[in-house]
Amino acid sequence: MEWKISVTHRRGSQLASLLPEVTTDGILLLVRKGVQGEGGKATGGHAWEGHRERVRRMFAAIAPRYDLLNHLLSLNVDRFWRRFTVRQLRPHLSSKAPVLDLCCGTGDLALELAQQADVIGVDFCRPMLRIGQAKIARRRARVLLVEGDALQLPFPDGVFSVVTIAFGLRNLESPERGLREIYRVLRPGGVVAVLEFSQPLLPIFRHVFRFYFRNLLPRIGNWISGVPGPYDYLRDSVQAFLNQRELARLMEAVGFTTVRYINLTGGIAALHLGEKTP
Ligand SMILES: C[S@@+](CC[C@H](N)C(=O)[O-])C[C@H]1O[C@@H](n2cnc3c(N)ncnc32)[C@H](O)[C@@H]1O
Repeated sequence: MEWKISVTHRRGSQLASLLPEVTTDGILLLVRKGVQGEGGKATGGHAWEGHRERVRRMFAAIAPRYDLLNHLLSLNVDRFWRRFTVRQLRPHLSSKAPVLDLCCGTGDLALELAQQADVIGVDFCRPMLRIGQAKIARRRARVLLVEGDALQLPFPDGVFSVVTIAFGLRNLESPERGLREIYRVLRPGGVVAVLEFSQPLLPIFRHVFRFYFRNLLPRIGNWISGVPGPYDYLRDSVQAFLNQRELARLMEAVGFTTVRYINLTGGIAALHLGEKTP
């Protein structure tokens, strides 16, 4: 395995200049051997590449409308959830250590985090990253975007103090492997924050939410994005995903300690936090 960069002791404005692989669009292509970069051929031959490619193509197709739909379909509550996540992490954020934001997409959580720390955002969908890159450039934010796979991170063990993943874990071919990879790159004592859709708590609220998620959301999403499919996938993947307790148990099984979760908007989403044993 070749590690191309060391992520320790990097200051935001210097990040890009220290990394010669930064491409003209400002995104660093950093994939581990056997993992496919944009437009390249997959070389690993793993069964999970089918899932990976489907998810990547889907996000590429909706990338131009992703932010608009996020804010519209959640009535802007998604912004609050990301800000809340950053507030919870504040005691762990420092300008001296970069935060790793996985499945960063168009960079909304990374941009929130960047007000407190340098951020490295990783996603395997370049069209999403390109939109993120434009936002980052406009705000001159301290975020470096990396095209890479959350299941095979191009970083050595134990280098990050904080790793975040917002609405990404559910999309991984194996959430458990995703958590194991996060555990690997965290320093002992480091913190993970998983923001994800979850199960609304109150039965009435659950019914209303289910009706919205099953019937309205896919129609609006597919109509505005102009792409049939991705918002059916959103509905199905949220329904199939772990509830609050199951995700907490999975995190513990992977090795995280002091795992806890905070329900957001009645449990529509939940923020799970955990630590790597010091
Ligand atoms: C629902 S979006 C979330 C984006 C962002 N975190 C947010 O809060 O809006 C999920 C993102 O996960 C990315 N993704 C899914 N599987 C991935 C993987 N294996 N490696 C890297 N990124 C992945 C997709 O490309 C997409 O941008």
